[in-house]
Amino acid sequence: MYLGLDLGTSGLRALLTDPEGKVLDSAEAGYENPHPHAGWSEQDSADWIAACETAIAKIKSRNGAALAALKGIGLSGQMHGATLIDRDGRVLRPCILWNDTRSASEAAALDAMPEMRAITGNIVFPGFTAPKLMWVAKHEPEVFAKVAKVLLPKDYLRLWLTGDTVADLSDAAGTSWLNTGKRDWSGDALARSGLSADHMPSLVEGSEVSGMLRDTLAASWGIKTPVVVAGGAADNAAAACGAGCFAEGQGFVSLGTSGVLLAAKDRYAPAPETAVHTFCHAVPARWYQMGVILAATDSLNWLARNLGQSPGDLARALPEQISGPNRAMFLPYLSGERTPHNNAALRGSFVGLDIASDPKALTAAVMEGVAYALRDNLEALKATGTELSSVLALGGGARSRYWLETIATLFDTPLQLPADGEFGAAMGAVRLAMAAAEKASLEEIMTQPEIAGTIEPRADLTSAYEAGYQRYAALAPALIADAERVGA
Ligand code: XUL
Repeated sequence: MYLGLDLGTSGLRALLTDPEGKVLDSAEAGYENPHPHAGWSEQDSADWIAACETAIAKIKSRNGAALAALKGIGLSGQMHGATLIDRDGRVLRPCILWNDTRSASEAAALDAMPEMRAITGNIVFPGFTAPKLMWVAKHEPEVFAKVAKVLLPKDYLRLWLTGDTVADLSDAAGTSWLNTGKRDWSGDALARSGLSADHMPSLVEGSEVSGMLRDTLAASWGIKTPVVVAGGAADNAAAACGAGCFAEGQGFVSLGTSGVLLAAKDRYAPAPETAVHTFCHAVPARWYQMGVILAATDSLNWLARNLGQSPGDLARALPEQISGPNRAMFLPYLSGERTPHNNAALRGSFVGLDIASDPKALTAAVMEGVAYALRDNLEALKATGTELSSVLALGGGARSRYWLETIATLFDTPLQLPADGEFGAAMGAVRLAMAAAEKASLEEIMTQPEIAGTIEPRADLTSAYEAGYQRYAALAPALIADAERVGA
């Protein structure tokens, strides 16, 4: 049996499968995500362990015999978080998460240093790990002085599972300390934030063995045989493994808290000037590119909160089919933006509101605005020479036909809808565990899900949405100028 553990931003999900990847059980446990100041986003690392214990206990109580036959564990996790531990493995402060923008000025300073983009293949975004350490060095020098290792969230979970400090390359690529082309830590990049390779965990590919489950844990889970823990992957790379996106041109659009447009690459082709991310894939000698927008379903959640309704109710009030761009327009920069603007101070806006604008009109504008932002990401990917030959639609927002038809029309590309089943990050983690434990061929394991349907672009509306996109693109500079005036 195999176990995938996906350490997300709102909770941890455990997925138990048989050796063929058939789902036997799954369990979730949530945790808090405090925002103690504007722009801050933290988590207590102990909560991840507690959530893992809760999820495993649920699975053990329902499927103890299957859990006892566990052969391998794969990990997936939210990226970029800085978990700081001292020489004795003690956590020094709450983890600073991927969506925390306190270190925007440190990120800009690092990004301006010669060779940073050339080494890492990426802009140093405020959410990445390196600028967080510079912020800690400046504001909490007593903490910084005690840092023995910096671990990404899922690698802290791994430390608890195995006792080893190990990172996988796909997650390491989001730190701004990795030479992404060479797939190794860069002493040069590390030195710029006052660190060295000694502060880093050792590196493995996601599909390799990173360690073994500790005996005490194995015993308490009722397991008698050794259990391999695979390198695992950053959540988006894990989702790409779960959805079988790893040949050149295969990709997905994901409507989660953040929105992602991902394309698998069979070579390293960075293009940081486009604000596209280029990271190592979870399997050897592969990379992927992605555009990231920070508020996808988060924009709908924000609207729902403020209208006192649920996001599902708002979505259900819209028709299944689109009928042309809306007059009311939304720019979804509620938390700043990564691709293409790389601007943490940028904020969102409604434009073109009418005295008759009602919750339905605002919902349509929010979904359409997120779709325009994703079109910006498609343009950024295209500017790097990347072509997407197939695009899967994933994430909670993909339940809305209206949203998907808007995106398909704006992309002028069909979107494939997977049949019900498991193909997300937790399944990607399971597949990496299988690869590590069985040394099986990756092509055999990382298959694409069964496709239940295709959302076609609406040829009759392509030029109308193209005009809508031009209107959207012309509005962004005004918000950028406003952000400069107001500041972060
Ligand atoms: C990717 C990113 C997010 C987090 C969310 O660069 O920041 O997708 O990984 O989980």
